[in-house]
Amino acid sequence: MPEKSTRPPGPRGWPLVGVALQMRKRGLDVLAQAARDYGDVVYIPLAFGQSRILVNHPDLIEQVLVLQQNKFHKTAMARAATEALLGNGLLNSEGDFWRRQRRLAQPAFQKSRVNEYADTMVEHALAHADKWREGEEREISEEMSRLACGIAVKTLFGLDVGPEADRIGKNLTFLMRFQMERLRSPIRLPQNFPTPKQRRAQAAFDFLDAYVYRIISERRARGGDGTDLLSRLIAAMDEDGSQMTPKQLRDETMTLFLAGHETTALTLAWTWYLLAQNPAAESRLHDELTRALANRAARPEDLESLPYLDAVIREALRLYPPAYIVGRLAIEPFELGGYSFPAGTTVLMSQWIMHRDPRYFAEPDVFRPERWLDGLAARLPSHAYFPFGGGPRRCIGQGFAMMEAALVTATLARRFRFELVAKQPVLPEPLITLRPRGGIHMKIRRRAEVARAEAVAS
Ligand code: HEM
Repeated sequence: MPEKSTRPPGPRGWPLVGVALQMRKRGLDVLAQAARDYGDVVYIPLAFGQSRILVNHPDLIEQVLVLQQNKFHKTAMARAATEALLGNGLLNSEGDFWRRQRRLAQPAFQKSRVNEYADTMVEHALAHADKWREGEEREISEEMSRLACGIAVKTLFGLDVGPEADRIGKNLTFLMRFQMERLRSPIRLPQNFPTPKQRRAQAAFDFLDAYVYRIISERRARGGDGTDLLSRLIAAMDEDGSQMTPKQLRDETMTLFLAGHETTALTLAWTWYLLAQNPAAESRLHDELTRALANRAARPEDLESLPYLDAVIREALRLYPPAYIVGRLAIEPFELGGYSFPAGTTVLMSQWIMHRDPRYFAEPDVFRPERWLDGLAARLPSHAYFPFGGGPRRCIGQGFAMMEAALVTATLARRFRFELVAKQPVLPEPLITLRPRGGIHMKIRRRAEVARAEAVAS
């Protein structure tokens, strides 16, 4: 029998540094090119003997995320990028402790519970849009971040977001960029070294930390019916402080707070961007909403009869997946795609690459929501499209996010159109999530017929 090769093909890169320098500047392009050139399993050489294995086939991704998942942990890189902020919360924890915390959080994400959040989502969207004036210009990713932040704090923690909403998004963006630059830099200063940037990062971190601690103490002070997610976590800490310390409660709260609004906000922002460039899709969506809803607010039970709305959101998540790459670190040897790999191997799987793979999506770079209307989701291999990951570590908030994206889009698209201010395309910036570089500046156009209907109703 021929011996198994241990090294898949891949770009050679430079001696000593591999493709590390190119990766620092244009990581996604380098990985996408490597996938095109070398196929389903690619060896990516990095600096000083380090490497990654890039996996580009749905069946192999399923192997890592689902079938052989017990051989893997989250990667050191993902942990390093998020640990200061998220600590050992649900996204980063492992093993029995992760299982316990996930069980604790799960009830807040059951379908029936998520449906109860619908009114809050719609009310927040309406209240947010009340501040918009016809013809004014806004940076729409910031707007969506503020809106989604308010929704997350109310639904998950039972509180109002307060005047900080504005500063939360700005501080978070700064911290993400700072952290990614730091990780990609060959010289890594100690975190407390007082450069102006590090000082600003520390201030941003302190602000978010203080905000989350304040949420926790406010929730404690108010008491309430105890059914929201934060109350459940607090009760678990009070019952068993050996498992959940105050620091752990802070980590879980911060994780749910950030994971619970940042990605959904990006989905909404990219959706408006894509609709603005595709007037035919925009008007088809508007027609569907008008027909199904007339002048009333969308409810969860409406979503089944709004297939085009669902298709628009799926398509936005395909083209601009907020979580654009997931990684796993092997804790024992494993086999994949005909190769044997030792423990310590880091595997990368990219939604950005798979979602634009022409084997699964015709004209992959084109925004065409219609592709989802004829049962494509059921025909696709299970991990060709995986905006929410897969296996036991799949996103706990998938149902929450899809409902929020649909209800907010329905509420706002009925009342507004968004026009791009600049003609040049907005480039995606791969930070911890896939963000629009420089923001998305849009002009807000109020739809005449809804304005008239509102005037009649008032
Ligand atoms: C469009 C919006 C969202 C996207 C694209 C998204 C994407 C993801 C992905 C890909 C993962 C898996 C990461 C991995 O396997 O390494 C994940 C995990 C997670 N997400 Fe989301 N997410 C979204 C919304 C949300 C929301 C709304 C919440 C909470 C309210 C949330 C909370 C979490 C948590 C806690 C985890 C870790 C789960 C675990 O490891 O047990 N996410 N998300």
